[in-house]
Amino acid sequence: MGPQGSLLCFCFFYFPVFVVIPNVVHGDLSYSIPEEMNRGSVVGNVAKDLGMESTTISSRKARVDIEGTQKQYCEVNLNNGDLVISERIDRESLCGKRPSCVLKLDLVLENPLELHRVNLHIQDINDNSPKFKKNLIEMEISESASKGNRFSVEEAHDGDIGQNAVQRYTLQKNDYFILAVEKNRVELVLGNTLDRENQKEINLLLTALDGGSPQRSGTVVIHVTVLDANDNAPVFSQAVYKATIPENAPPGTVVIDISATDADEGVNGEVTYDFGHVSEVDINVFSINHETGGISLKGVIDFEETSSFEIGVEAKDGLGLTSYAKVIIDVTDVNDNAPVISVKSLNNPIPESMSPGTEVGIINVQDRDSEKNRQVRCYIQHELPFKLVPSIKNYYSLITTEQLDRELVSDYNITISATDEGSPPLSSSKTVHLSVADINDNPPVFEEQSYSAYVTENNKPGSTLCSVTARDPDWRQNGTVIYSLLPGEVNGASNFGLFVEE
Ligand SMILES: *[C@@H]1O[C@H](CO)[C@@H](O)[C@H](O)[C@H]1NC(C)=O
Ligand SMILES: *[C@@H]1O[C@H](CO)[C@@H](O)[C@H](O)[C@H]1NC(C)=O
Repeated sequence: MGPQGSLLCFCFFYFPVFVVIPNVVHGDLSYSIPEEMNRGSVVGNVAKDLGMESTTISSRKARVDIEGTQKQYCEVNLNNGDLVISERIDRESLCGKRPSCVLKLDLVLENPLELHRVNLHIQDINDNSPKFKKNLIEMEISESASKGNRFSVEEAHDGDIGQNAVQRYTLQKNDYFILAVEKNRVELVLGNTLDRENQKEINLLLTALDGGSPQRSGTVVIHVTVLDANDNAPVFSQAVYKATIPENAPPGTVVIDISATDADEGVNGEVTYDFGHVSEVDINVFSINHETGGISLKGVIDFEETSSFEIGVEAKDGLGLTSYAKVIIDVTDVNDNAPVISVKSLNNPIPESMSPGTEVGIINVQDRDSEKNRQVRCYIQHELPFKLVPSIKNYYSLITTEQLDRELVSDYNITISATDEGSPPLSSSKTVHLSVADINDNPPVFEEQSYSAYVTENNKPGSTLCSVTARDPDWRQNGTVIYSLLPGEVNGASNFGLFVEE
């Protein structure tokens, strides 16, 4: 079960009284698009694909929600139901070297709340060229090196994947070296003995080619100096080193020690270390001790951004012979993100006539951490005539539980809290202000059931007989009382005109 699944179940567990409101998770929509599409390009028509009228898309406030990112890659055109690109989608920065790259969007409809998962399969295009770490590689090889001796060269890297990544290498024709490529190992094999007295420098041109269309390539010049000493290349103790580090570890934390040995003596056997291929994003994250091979943390690592690093390392001896290895660093999650509560929609003010059980708002809770650290429970802090009902995924409906009466309580501050299951847990809260709108539901009421007044005969017109008061607790016009006299009778004759209201 994925992290979203567990979030959902966990919330159900905390709300055993589950009122069925009509919300639906429908089948997924799936589109396949190339990366780097222009802004405004149409991915597909969600209205059509969901079998809806485009007017429904607009009246139900369709929108795209993407979890765990500030970026809004796509949006729905409410006029016609088209899903359009609104931000650059770069497959390499989204998914790195992963063979499959799926951007998961939620298409949210309101009234009733309805959620559709939209999977955007991002296809790689050949927008990166193979690249060597340097433009020039310096190599020093003894003239006594035998035919068949191998000298490794660091492989080229290509941000793209599959056929668009590096497929093959070519070495410009020369008198001494031939190329041997096996898996990711690139080696120069000596095919003819060197003679320093004859030629003491050799320039080789190595080209890496990808399999994209159009094809892209990258080159490196290898400058070989022929020496008359004997030498062995350093050898790493492992081809791949693995380390684990918690996110938020302080700078200076030692991640791993790598080591290589060199059979030579003196300066020829002195090994120094450096990074090989490191992506531009990761270059400031780690540092390497050139003498000891200790790799430590230099920057800040955030599990939510990068959960694993792959770094190339090289060991070089005093004569410049090099070998290469790889370090894979896995980052473990720490509960460093509090849940984030957002109000996705709110009917405010709400009329007091609404029946209990009416949905007045939609709340969404997200936690960027993973596993237990992202399991969230969500509740209302005080006793109020509202409750949260878990809806689809990490959405909640805010529902009234009683008949509201504006004349008793005219507004509510509803404080919603969310706590995750991390250790220690993190929580956050948000207050939603709701006003209750008036309905003219109270008739005016006289202070007395009946009033009596005595009047002497022959009184002057215009003298006050008595005053009456009626009250109405409703709001403004609905509570304004207008008095009028109803016609009555005096000794069988109409009293009309005898008394007036004032
Ligand atoms: C709600 O909060 C606002 C602002 O903090 C405050 O002015 C108001 O009196 C509160 N209302 C209630 C019903 O507590
Ligand atoms: C008075 O009540 C009516 C419904 O009975 C409502 O539509 C109207 O908005 C109310 N007026 C005020 C000022 O609240």
